[in-house]
Amino acid sequence: MNVIILFMEGNFDLVIFGGTGDLALRKLYPALFLADCDDRLHAGGRIIAAARQTLDNDAFRAKVAEALQRFVPKVTGAAQEMQAKRDASLSRFLARLTYFILDANDATQYQALKRSLDERDSQTIFYLSVGPTLFPAIIGGLKASGLNTPDTRIVLEKPLGRDLTSSRQINSLVLEAFAESQVYRIDHYLGKETVQNLLALRFGNTLLEPLWNRSWVRDVQITIAETVGVETRGEFYDSTGAFRDMVQNHLLNLLCITAMEPPASLDPDAVRDEKLQVLRAMKPWTAETLRESLVRGQYRAGSMGGSRVASYLDEQGVAVNSPTETYVALRAEVSNWRWAGVPFYLRTGKRMAERRAEVVINFKSPPHSIFETPLAPNRLVITLQPEESVRLYTMAKAPGDGMRLREVYLDLDFQQFFRERRQDAYERLLLDVLRGNATLFMRRDEADAAWRWVQPVLDHWASESTPPIGYAAGSWGPPASSRLTALAGTAWHEEQSV
Ligand code: BG6
Repeated sequence: MNVIILFMEGNFDLVIFGGTGDLALRKLYPALFLADCDDRLHAGGRIIAAARQTLDNDAFRAKVAEALQRFVPKVTGAAQEMQAKRDASLSRFLARLTYFILDANDATQYQALKRSLDERDSQTIFYLSVGPTLFPAIIGGLKASGLNTPDTRIVLEKPLGRDLTSSRQINSLVLEAFAESQVYRIDHYLGKETVQNLLALRFGNTLLEPLWNRSWVRDVQITIAETVGVETRGEFYDSTGAFRDMVQNHLLNLLCITAMEPPASLDPDAVRDEKLQVLRAMKPWTAETLRESLVRGQYRAGSMGGSRVASYLDEQGVAVNSPTETYVALRAEVSNWRWAGVPFYLRTGKRMAERRAEVVINFKSPPHSIFETPLAPNRLVITLQPEESVRLYTMAKAPGDGMRLREVYLDLDFQQFFRERRQDAYERLLLDVLRGNATLFMRRDEADAAWRWVQPVLDHWASESTPPIGYAAGSWGPPASSRLTALAGTAWHEEQSV
């Protein structure tokens, strides 16, 4: 019998700064709504959107209802019962929402916000779903009005700064008003189901651990490929680039979960201490590795799903001759006892051939072959999206005469085993904030160590006059990224596939 344990969270006031923004409408309200449909939110929980736009509660609720219609994944097939539950939950969810007009830069308005939150026995959470330029004003306003009491929590969206210096400034500022234990730095990749499955796979089984090291692993590849371009975010993206947008946070977090030592428990600090050790062991960049182990690209016009798409330089909000990268591939190394000498290849890009996020562990080749067929090394492929799966590629005998071997895979398809609805990453992380579990959030020292490792790359590119290498939209990036893996006698996963 399957026993599903639902944790009902305590009573709460969740204040979302930037409450009418893109992230809130696309991700936060849909995630909270789905949690509410599953009866995971306390009956008295309130969601207060704070933003500058002049709206009343009704107009705001109508806006959210429209966003839910667009962004909550549709129920398909046999799950009509679930749809009925959603329809029934909608009015309850909308009734939780209130709208508070607030100019974040006007310090006097936070007193009024305080009055509207006072006298409730509930957990208060401030979610800063705004650009980092507004962080100082909001944190200052919360502090000056005394809203930063020790039992509140604050959630910070990325990007947390543009470089090591600005991220340190933001962290110092936050920590002048809140204790570290109150701060939740969100990286939604850590909330994805398969990322946690990676923890389960590694630490809930004995099978892999003896192989999970430099003796048996040839290289590790972590890819987050997207088919989308910069869409409506041209201006933001052009001042950010793929390295800050994806490598500094999502890819490094995936690397940490893949490479870390077994923590003593799932206690937030036990996990984060181990992740930190990985970041501290990252081999520093040198003039040579900056030249040889790093590829930056920018998409040109091309074809996606049969339609022509524009070049990055023709996207709205992008500067003329912009040097911003939309693609990065790099070779890193974790210099410790377990991993020394094993290349960790990381790559990410917009307008790539496929939407795919995966961690690939390439094992070493057998030391000697008794077969005529060349042996492909074993590969463990952990796919986060578009679908969640774990595949172990192995050699098997092809039917027929002789001993011809072919690569086949053992497939662990989570859709097949688990019928339950998957929580969206934001849904899981928001529930974690409500219950005060910081395991899947970045601690200050982790964020700092990640920026420290990426800073030389930012400096290198800032001093370079060579533009990023162009690649056709719809491709797997510039050919230079294949040369990066070829140098070590390996190839990207899609280039090795059976
Ligand atoms: C965000 C980046 O953090 O992650 C976006 O800012 C990117 O540029 C997105 O598209 C990818 O997330 P997901 O969950 O769609 O893979």
